[in-house]
Amino acid sequence: MSESNPSARGNFASNFGFLMAAVGSAVGLGNIWKFPYITGEYGGGAFVLVYLGCISLVGLPLLYAEVIIGRRGGRDILGALRTLTRQSGRLGTAISYLTGMMAVVASFLMLAFYSVVAGWTVYFFVFSVGAIPGVEFGNPDVFDTMSTTARTATICHTVFMLMTIGVVTLGVHSGIEFLCKTLMPVLFAILAAMLVYVGFTAELGQSLAFLFQPDFSKLGSSAVLEALGHAFFTLSLGMGAMVTYGSYLKEENRVIRDSVAIALLDTAVALLAGAVIFAVVFAKEGLEPSAGPGLLFRTLPALFVEMPGGRFVAAVFFGLVVFAAWSSAISLLEVNVAYAVDEFKLPRWVAAGGIGLCVWGLGVACAIGVTVGEVTLQDGLDDLVSRYLLPIGGLLIAIAAGWFVLPADSLSGFSHLPRIGHSLGIAWRFLIRFVTPVLVSVVILWQVGAFDAWLKAEEPPAIREGELADPMNE
Ligand code: TRP
Repeated sequence: MSESNPSARGNFASNFGFLMAAVGSAVGLGNIWKFPYITGEYGGGAFVLVYLGCISLVGLPLLYAEVIIGRRGGRDILGALRTLTRQSGRLGTAISYLTGMMAVVASFLMLAFYSVVAGWTVYFFVFSVGAIPGVEFGNPDVFDTMSTTARTATICHTVFMLMTIGVVTLGVHSGIEFLCKTLMPVLFAILAAMLVYVGFTAELGQSLAFLFQPDFSKLGSSAVLEALGHAFFTLSLGMGAMVTYGSYLKEENRVIRDSVAIALLDTAVALLAGAVIFAVVFAKEGLEPSAGPGLLFRTLPALFVEMPGGRFVAAVFFGLVVFAAWSSAISLLEVNVAYAVDEFKLPRWVAAGGIGLCVWGLGVACAIGVTVGEVTLQDGLDDLVSRYLLPIGGLLIAIAAGWFVLPADSLSGFSHLPRIGHSLGIAWRFLIRFVTPVLVSVVILWQVGAFDAWLKAEEPPAIREGELADPMNE
């Protein structure tokens, strides 16, 4: 099955370690920054319902596909697919290369701009802990000044990249597994504590009502497509991150259970973060939940300072955001490092250092505000990756898993379950062969504007005025 010696490339020592690493990858800025603001824009409860549907129907089947490909292939995404599609001859090899290279390139590019945004969260964390001379915490302009000051943005991005490279260099077991096993439970504890805190100090009831009472009037087709796209993004799908982590897994009889757990925990974090953030937003008279992308970096700090112990709470909160972004960035770098280690036999530290340095360079170009034509490199890369490369990568992985990998391999995660496993396996194969590719293709067509004329005929969702440029516009 596996071509390389598994112990030489590293392993997760425990299933819990794998689970926490995968949850760490999934839980990121997507959950804490993006989910709340798109939910706010699309009016809350109804959007949440659609999102849950997308997670179960498209996210979960693809998540299982990625993990099982990694587990059975036992290598980086390209190597794993090549091994598993051997029987399909040239066509199998071609799709493996296409899918693998796409994933490697996409995760490389994504890490560059993700690290810049993550750098902003590092800044806000440091800022909440200690004062920064001449700047007043809670002033909404801080975000604009910081993110557009080349030096500050570059320093923060550099610190964050060093943290990421450091952990990946330490290896799968001593670096990634150790960190995620420690951080993820802390992250959950912080979120739970924050929920209790806002329960006493802010409008938790109103926030929960907003999240869970569906109002279908704001729900157009673009909300559905947005939900589908986000289901992909939030579960770290389409870039081989879950394939790579799956390749360090020892047993496959928990892949189903783990996939469900990853999707549930990821959703739980998004909902909890949303509940906390909206509780704070509703506490202030006249503020709307549809504040847009600036919700996390402009609205929240301004609100925190007015709350009891606000400075401390802000520090804890931004610490949590840094954790979440860190464990996601690690998995992005690991896709590339696994590729370099498995395909080119590079020592891990050389791969992590070398690739990390290249990503850092590209990130610096984003941080100092390099523009390509009309758009900034930061926004351009984000658009390219989130809108196109990610769904296309997901489509390719679904096709490879559904049509090229032998059922003996792809269904192996179901085989330990008696009777029900067989039916579940059939259902999964149907979803991954037909439903996922069709739905993902619809998202891709929507991204390239194929439905624009039709969507325009519908009522557009609430447009926000005077809002800052979306820092990770998707
Ligand atoms: N899931 C991450 C988040 O919610 C972002 C992400 C998308 C990602 N694709 C990824 C992370 C691939 C790691 C690997 O923020």
